[in-house]
Amino acid sequence: MHAVSPRLRADSRRGILESVWWGLIVLMVVSGCGDDDDGPAAPGTDDFQVIIDQFGLTPLPTIPYPANNTFNAERIALGQLLFFDPILGGESAAQVKADAGLDPFRYRANDMACATCHFPTLAFADGRRLGAGVAGAQFSDTDLGPQRVVPGPSIITGLDVGTEPRNTPTILNAALNGRNSAEPTAESFQFMDGRVTKGLEEQATKPITSRDEMAGDAYGRDILGDALTPEVIQDSVTNRIRSIPEYVDRFKQAFAGEVSIADDIKLDHIGRAIAAFERELVTPGSRYDQFVDGDRDALGEVEKSGFELFFGKALCGDCHFGPMLSDFSFRVQGVAEDYESIIPGFGGKSGDGKDFGRFHADESEFADEKYAFRVLTIRNTELTAPYFHSGSAGTLREAVEFYDRGGQGNQDVPDSELEAAGVTRDSSIRPLGLTGDEIDAIVAFMKTTTAPVQMGPLGVDLTAVPQRVPSGLIPPGIPTPSGPGPFLITTEGRD
Ligand code: HEC
Ligand code: HEC
Repeated sequence: MHAVSPRLRADSRRGILESVWWGLIVLMVVSGCGDDDDGPAAPGTDDFQVIIDQFGLTPLPTIPYPANNTFNAERIALGQLLFFDPILGGESAAQVKADAGLDPFRYRANDMACATCHFPTLAFADGRRLGAGVAGAQFSDTDLGPQRVVPGPSIITGLDVGTEPRNTPTILNAALNGRNSAEPTAESFQFMDGRVTKGLEEQATKPITSRDEMAGDAYGRDILGDALTPEVIQDSVTNRIRSIPEYVDRFKQAFAGEVSIADDIKLDHIGRAIAAFERELVTPGSRYDQFVDGDRDALGEVEKSGFELFFGKALCGDCHFGPMLSDFSFRVQGVAEDYESIIPGFGGKSGDGKDFGRFHADESEFADEKYAFRVLTIRNTELTAPYFHSGSAGTLREAVEFYDRGGQGNQDVPDSELEAAGVTRDSSIRPLGLTGDEIDAIVAFMKTTTAPVQMGPLGVDLTAVPQRVPSGLIPPGIPTPSGPGPFLITTEGRD
């Protein structure tokens, strides 16, 4: 994919476009003149094709696989189980609960799985403004994204835990993320500040170590303090997996030649299995994909005008272009944060109500990129409200309204604050003067990118919640059996 100059924008010519087009055809036929400068382009192209070419728009591309994690049906199935298994969550610590005088098996709401925040029927996001982690909805059976109440007290220390400073993005098509380029790569950026640069494998082992996401105050955090390194947590989770015979069998099959006994299972294998599952969560075949592939009837008139506005007057295509409708760069737009209104007293990423985006990825390296966030994909956004890193736009319409006002709303980060942080708002974020109909058309266009997840290997439905997982814990989305536990047969080997 060639880099597309953001300045190369097609004019928005809604309404007159078709009449001009037909007029020119008639003119050509009548005059017999085919090479007029203003005439139609080569056969098979039209004004839409000009935009498609300029902005590098393509149907959903094929999945790039890293050399050490190529397509493997057993690995994908194993990854699906791990993704839904609360055994990866810290405060699933049965013994710690028992020591605290609590039923070790009862409160499965403590037990976080990846899927608790990235749930299939919520488009692998959670439907919340900010993610809700391990202590959310403690002692409750309604443990899915929107119902979780955070922060909640850690079952171990009693300290509040469980509010994520960021909106949970979908992982649909995350396999196709780029890195400083619109081109998909297996070594992609993950996270809105790009702090993961080596794709899904690297990302998959991080949430288990995060206090707010999955770890909570387990692993002796209160005793170890700073000595509780990510490695201590990762070793603990790896040991739990090794202690479950069904997992050992599945790892042996999925990593034949690498794993032959329990001790061969390493963190790396867990990450690769989860990534193998996530990588298949792609959504080809949307009406948008059909449209850019040449089927001009795939979009209705309003959607087509939204397409032209998106890549024209509304400037969206300056940042949202290429196969994923993102150039995977970091831009300063200054969307509203206002964490206080979500959870009183919650200070967000910085602790004092700000999220410096890229700067927070590595404060020494990106000191001059405060407030810069990764351009997010537009694909499937119909299903992933609310929007932006702070979840401040509740609907797609509100997201477009942010752009229409050029980031100059009461709640948006003001220019003065950006200046104080040494940055300026991206020049494409400026008042657009869109009409209500134009905003609606852009929203209608974005919705044409929605498509279901492709079928997994051997016809496996990758969006299905496993009825049971090898740990014996209850996966998110499966109703908790009534009455007290145990939901585990044994605590042996589990810390
Ligand atoms: C508490 C909720 C929560 C849990 C649990 C959770 N995530 Fe996430 N996930 C998030 C949030 C919030 C982000 C965005 C973080 C950021 O950008 O800084 C995210 C980002 C991601 C991304 C990056 C997507 C992209 O395009 O940048 C991937 C991939 C992902 N999570 C996979 C996982 C996996 C795998 C697990 C389990 C090991 C998991 N998540 C557990 C909330 C959660
Ligand atoms: C200057 C580059 C730029 C331009 C221009 C731009 N965007 Fe964005 N877009 C971004 C960035 C960066 C983010 C993530 C920002 C954040 O979370 O703070 C984003 C996020 C979004 C999201 C939220 C996605 C999600 O999952 O949360 C939507 C929707 C969106 N943009 C639509 C549009 C539309 C529509 C336009 C044109 C009216 C547009 N964008 C123009 C850079 C841009």
